[in-house]
Amino acid sequence: MSHERSRDAYDRALSVMPGGVNSAVRAAPQPYPVFARKGEGGHVIDADGNRYVDWIQGLGPLLYGHDPPESVTAAVQQHVAEGPVFGMPTELEVEHAEFVTRHVPSVEMLRFVNSGTEATVSAVRLARAVTERNKVVVMQGGYHGAQESTLVEGDADHPKPSTDGIPQSFVEHTLPVPFNDAEAAKGVFEDHGDDIAAVMVEPVQANSGVAYPVDGYHETLRELCDDHGALLIWDEVITGFRVGGLGCAQSKFGIDPDVTTFGKIIGGGFPVGAIGGKTEYVEQFTPSGDVFQAGTFSGHPATMAAGLEGLKYAAENDVYEHVNDLGRQLREGLAEILAERAPEYTVVGTDSIFKVAFTRSDAPQQACSNGCRQNPECPRFGDCPKRGTDAAHMETDRYARLFRPAMREEGVLVSQNQFEANFVSYAHTEEDVEQTLSAYRDCL
Ligand SMILES: Cc1ncc(COP(=O)(O)O)c(C=O)c1O
Repeated sequence: MSHERSRDAYDRALSVMPGGVNSAVRAAPQPYPVFARKGEGGHVIDADGNRYVDWIQGLGPLLYGHDPPESVTAAVQQHVAEGPVFGMPTELEVEHAEFVTRHVPSVEMLRFVNSGTEATVSAVRLARAVTERNKVVVMQGGYHGAQESTLVEGDADHPKPSTDGIPQSFVEHTLPVPFNDAEAAKGVFEDHGDDIAAVMVEPVQANSGVAYPVDGYHETLRELCDDHGALLIWDEVITGFRVGGLGCAQSKFGIDPDVTTFGKIIGGGFPVGAIGGKTEYVEQFTPSGDVFQAGTFSGHPATMAAGLEGLKYAAENDVYEHVNDLGRQLREGLAEILAERAPEYTVVGTDSIFKVAFTRSDAPQQACSNGCRQNPECPRFGDCPKRGTDAAHMETDRYARLFRPAMREEGVLVSQNQFEANFVSYAHTEEDVEQTLSAYRDCL
């Protein structure tokens, strides 16, 4: 496989863009990223003409792979042709909001924005305004976009910025706790309960090796928020319309968050975010309330068309059956391969998300077959990833330097690093699954 054009493009890019990219994770592939030229179904063709089975899927927004259904493409083209943006409301926005509120149990009203980051920023502002409190509980190793309130590491007693450029005085309002640790959550509410505006949590921690929730964990967070008058914010930027189908992860896990943030699939592959939830909260955004929120491109017609038509198509077709079934086939197939080739590793994921976590396990023989379910009876329970920070202790170099480049040469693109997830689309086929499993067998 030649990567000459990608190499040249990266060489040029390094002179004009920081790190050669417009979003950091794109530069993670070793020794340099392949540059995408076009997509075809579940495949991507790079600048040199190489074809890959693509499990990155734009980092999650592409429920249909690179060829959306005809109804989606037609609606997008129509709205692009009719004028890109108006600074006036459109009926499309109303229809999309009606669709989401009909399908997502806790969402009565929503505001569309342009990215997941914008959604989480606004959700935190909303919670602070509603509760008249400042502190926000987040999960260590979780990701809520490039925003000041959540780019925080350490623990609740010693929070510190996880990037340069954020004042310590700012992060003192953020309380990081370990995901899946009910006692830690109770502790932080005991110490700070009267000052906590919100808990912000991903239903499945999907940016850091994919950690499934331990039974009862989300219920504990819900109760703590209720008992202390804090808002429970579910960040469904990744899980929204992927885990739990059209009802999102909250319908799968039976939890009723106060506020939900969306991104990715809700915009059908175009820039998007949304903040949804109970009317009493979401109505606090301007102009109906006093929490400032605005954006030139929010509710952009092309995005609304892609998101809405994509979800309508999913409501009428076997989209979730297909992607979840291929997800299961991948997880089960990978578990068999690991038993043979790398029994210390763990298969993680749910619905149409899958991943092999390069764990270091002392009890290698009994991995869950359909993705780790945090079963306390399992002899590997202690070794499987419970929280985002666990990914940092995995064999990240082996993944990045040896495994992923080898997969690429086999014509399979998996997530750019050990932290991100892989996503199945409706365009993927059983042949793609077979090719992928065979590549894993060869490369592990
Ligand atoms: C859970 C979660 N929240 C928020 C974001 C930020 O979304 P965006 O990259 O659209 O700003 C991401 C991005 O991957 C995410 O995974």
